[in-house]
Amino acid sequence: MKNTDNTNTVLPILIATNSFLRKKTRIVQPEDISEIRKVVPTMFETMYQASGIGLAAPQVGIGLRFFIVDLMKDDVSDPMVFINPEIFEKSDEQSGYREGCLSFPEQFADVIRSEKIKVKYMDLEGKINEIEADGLLARCIQHETDHLDGILFVDHLSSLKKNIIMRKIIKEQKREH
Ligand code: NI
Repeated sequence: MKNTDNTNTVLPILIATNSFLRKKTRIVQPEDISEIRKVVPTMFETMYQASGIGLAAPQVGIGLRFFIVDLMKDDVSDPMVFINPEIFEKSDEQSGYREGCLSFPEQFADVIRSEKIKVKYMDLEGKINEIEADGLLARCIQHETDHLDGILFVDHLSSLKKNIIMRKIIKEQKREH
């Protein structure tokens, strides 16, 4: 699915200050799937061009419970679509990792998350899958599932660190407009 032709259209990514990112998304119904199939290739293109590894529907203004992931491990593309994801198990073992988010350009911070998770989700073919994930994939799924509930990675930080990042984002926004 990766396409390096940058004349392809991409979607605008909402920036952290946009209140839409704080809304809880709606469960995907069978009748939503065809619409999702249409937008997913453009979402991947948007994510690849922004050099991201995950992108949730609300980040491109879609209020539905799904996200895309492609870790590009060893430069190999492995696009995944998670519809109505449910993390039903999280390991007590946690780890910290420098996280970013396409809605927070150039901002990174250490976030503590469970090292292993089990997640149930529907794919684009409408099939229900259950997987166990660890490491970066587990982190990415937790980060993106948060987006579907209006939670952003800075919410996991101390209010001091969160405020510093939010202020930088607001400052940058003002500079651009
Ligand atoms: Ni994000």
